[in-house]
Amino acid sequence: MQKGTFPLTTSLRVTYMRLVVLGFFFLCFSLLTGAEAECPLQLDPQRAVVRYGGSVAVNCSTSDLLHKGMGWEISLREVLKNYTRSLITWRVSELKEWNINPIFCYINLNYTRGDSSQCQIELPVTVYKTPDSVSISTVNHRGPMIEGQQYELQCDVHDVAPVQNLTVRWYKNQTLLHQTTFTDTIETPVNKNVTLLIRPDRADIGAQYWCEAELDLGAEGPQPPPKNSSTPLSITVHYKPIINETKLPSVVRVFRGYPDVLVCEADGNPKPTISWSLGTNGTEHNIYSEKLNITESTPENVYCIANNSVGNTTRHVKVSIQEDYLPLIAGLIAVIVVFIIFIFSFIYTVYYKKAKMGHYSLKNAKPSAQNGNITQNGKQNPIPMKKLPQSSFLA
Ligand SMILES: *[C@@H]1O[C@H](CO)[C@@H](O)[C@H](O)[C@H]1NC(C)=O
Ligand SMILES: *[C@@H]1O[C@H](CO)[C@@H](O)[C@H](O)[C@H]1NC(C)=O
Ligand SMILES: *[C@@H]1O[C@H](CO)[C@@H](O)[C@H](O)[C@H]1NC(C)=O
Ligand SMILES: *[C@@H]1O[C@H](CO)[C@@H](O)[C@H](O)[C@H]1NC(C)=O
Repeated sequence: MQKGTFPLTTSLRVTYMRLVVLGFFFLCFSLLTGAEAECPLQLDPQRAVVRYGGSVAVNCSTSDLLHKGMGWEISLREVLKNYTRSLITWRVSELKEWNINPIFCYINLNYTRGDSSQCQIELPVTVYKTPDSVSISTVNHRGPMIEGQQYELQCDVHDVAPVQNLTVRWYKNQTLLHQTTFTDTIETPVNKNVTLLIRPDRADIGAQYWCEAELDLGAEGPQPPPKNSSTPLSITVHYKPIINETKLPSVVRVFRGYPDVLVCEADGNPKPTISWSLGTNGTEHNIYSEKLNITESTPENVYCIANNSVGNTTRHVKVSIQEDYLPLIAGLIAVIVVFIIFIFSFIYTVYYKKAKMGHYSLKNAKPSAQNGNITQNGKQNPIPMKKLPQSSFLA
């Protein structure tokens, strides 16, 4: 560079010192981030997710153009080697191997780093297979389910890999009920059965249960993650009858002479048969009908019984026959009204008899000709009517 001694200026010396300090920190940082980061290899993509039987191509490239060879090592076998280029591609058109890991791209470096001049980076490869089938069934049961009892549903996921990326979800209609993941690390396809305990109620009539198997293979995997669903399982729920208590109160008042009808309605599956018992303890079934006519001869205690294959429900109704007070009340009111009219007439008469004597002259003195001249429909009344004094009408 420069011949002889060329003294550094103060500012240049400071800059030099700064560079040394900076370089030192950079070295420390590089050592701390580890040896892997120093291996001058790059994978593209950095991990591979391959469908079983699908194709894969991964580039391994280096920035070190003076290397002594680079290559791929698949399942501990060296498969590709190259001495001249800076890029080497591992390519399979039909990948049909489950235990393919570990896969490395390696490079032989031209200088000695510690005791090894070779470095390598691993390519994680996931070989997947979506399930052949996903099906749902009930365990040890056929036919309708009974409300409140417990049943077991099973979801069978057939031939799926890798199981640690599998999620099995249970749904009732569109509601997620439960989900299961697996921790097995097996790479080959497996079958998985997942069970769900349910306790259906009457609201579940016609509900559809189904399960779904999802393979979530991460960002490098297929998007959206592949999902396989079972066909829905519709369940039938049988339940005990419930008698509508708003339509059938526990005490019914019936007026004598006015027959009434009681209606017993019950909800149940299968549809309940309804009967009325007029006995004292509700064991005698007398009338098979929803309706019961009530007369004076109906016993005080009647029972509606709703019965189906699940069970029966009884409602006790107390029939209270009431006297019909309506005509009596009407008669009483009539008597009171007549009495009041009589009282008022009496008071009125007495008052005006007094008034006739006290104010007779005043009323008569009022001029009345004005009233007599009122015209009706534009015609003039020829003879003015003489207004009779009020006292003469009352007298
Ligand atoms: C690998 O490298 C080749 C050549 O540069 C390029 O055409 C190809 O797209 C690359 N593949 C991937 C997966 O990056
Ligand atoms: C699913 O697969 C991806 C890619 O193979 C992986 O990175 C991820 O950890 C897996 N998920 C689980 C829960 O194992
Ligand atoms: C009972 O009957 C009433 C009146 O018809 C009705 O509004 C109600 O929804 C019924 N209740 C049930 C549980 O069916
Ligand atoms: C309920 O109905 C079944 C037939 O469906 C009958 O055998 C049974 O005796 C009935 N039970 C009562 C309490 O009514």
